[in-house]
Amino acid sequence: MLGLAKLNLKLSLLLLAPVVAVVLGWSYLPRFVFILLLACASIAALSVALGRDAWRQAHRAAAAAPAAKAAPLPAAKAAPQPRSAGRRAQARAAKRGEVLLPPDATVTLSEERAAAGVDDVFTSLDNELVGLVPVKKKVEEIASLLLVDRVRQKFGLSAPRPNLHMCFTGDPGTGKTTVALKMAELLHRLGYLESGHVVHAMRDDLVGEFIGHTAPKTKRVLDRAMGGVLFIDEAYYLYRASDSKDYGQECIDILLQVMENDRDKLVVIMAGYKDRMDGFFESNPGMSSRIAHHIDFAPYHLDELVAIGRAMLDQASYYLSDEAEAAFRDYLTIRMDQPRFANARSVRNELERARLRHAHRLASEAHVDRTRDDLMRLEPADILTSPIFSLLGIDE
Ligand SMILES: Nc1ncnc2c1ncn2[C@@H]1O[C@H](COP(=O)(O)OP(=O)(O)O)[C@@H](O)[C@H]1O
Ligand SMILES: [Mg+2]
Repeated sequence: MLGLAKLNLKLSLLLLAPVVAVVLGWSYLPRFVFILLLACASIAALSVALGRDAWRQAHRAAAAAPAAKAAPLPAAKAAPQPRSAGRRAQARAAKRGEVLLPPDATVTLSEERAAAGVDDVFTSLDNELVGLVPVKKKVEEIASLLLVDRVRQKFGLSAPRPNLHMCFTGDPGTGKTTVALKMAELLHRLGYLESGHVVHAMRDDLVGEFIGHTAPKTKRVLDRAMGGVLFIDEAYYLYRASDSKDYGQECIDILLQVMENDRDKLVVIMAGYKDRMDGFFESNPGMSSRIAHHIDFAPYHLDELVAIGRAMLDQASYYLSDEAEAAFRDYLTIRMDQPRFANARSVRNELERARLRHAHRLASEAHVDRTRDDLMRLEPADILTSPIFSLLGIDE
């Protein structure tokens, strides 16, 4: 505020001086001399105004010259961040075709989020995935870090690119792959990945069976994933502690190298059961140190599984009648305690089977008139005929 008042005072004085000079000249000088002097003064003022920018640039260049280092220069004072850091940020901004914002500019993060299209990803994450509150919170935290980092770069505040390799742990069907797809989209929209594609790989895609096979196999997968996300499912199978001749170690070594050297081109997400991933990291501390974010996917509760089922059916224009929903709850209560239960995937599979039974039920009474609602509504019979109720076993 004080600085602004001083500036206004200086400007007023500067304007007052020529006005006084013109009034005095007009009163006391002969007309011809007055007009001549006025013309000269105008030309001089114009030259100063035009030459000022060039002079400033020359002055800045002199300030940057090493020979001038000893003298304290005003241009050096005007740049508070380290020079090399500022230049790096400037170069990055130039690469993205952006102009750095002046230090006194302001930005709102909500506008930045909307401009990057991040809000759309969060809306679809919220709408498509039931529950998963801690996971969504962690994704939001990572997105916030990247958003703030992005805005800092616009001001020339350089920071090293954050490490974005991640590990998703949890039981099967808890949403790890689905969230990895959303994460890739998010990283792409925030400008941290060239594309939002995800390459899904397991041990067999990466590790060869003979000498000399592993490196080309791993590199082929890495080449496909470059610019996006490499999602390694059940990553612990890469390492076999019992087998010293296993080629998995060769693959891990290549991955370690790429995760370090190409971290601005590729994000690796490893996934699997929590206890096994913990064991894998204990045996491979190098890998553990390269993973920045660990996200745990908890198994779903019964109510969440029912809500997931409802959402899946809704997307396919089906619904459960009240009695059918009660039967579906009973089904899930039994199924959750059985081996190979796979959370939301088991829900999806059972509902696919319920649709088959529904279709068969309608088709078996082909002569009956059917309404639109009949074609959408699943009844208890479509659930209760599951072999699980007669304890005949399951087939998933
Ligand atoms: N919270 C959820 N809400 C709705 N559908 C879900 C949810 N979690 C998982 N799914 C669905 O369940 C299926 C399996 O999920 P997936 O991401 O492949 O699990 P994972 O990779 O952990 O085994 C997918 O069809 C997915 O859309
Ligand atoms: Mg999966």
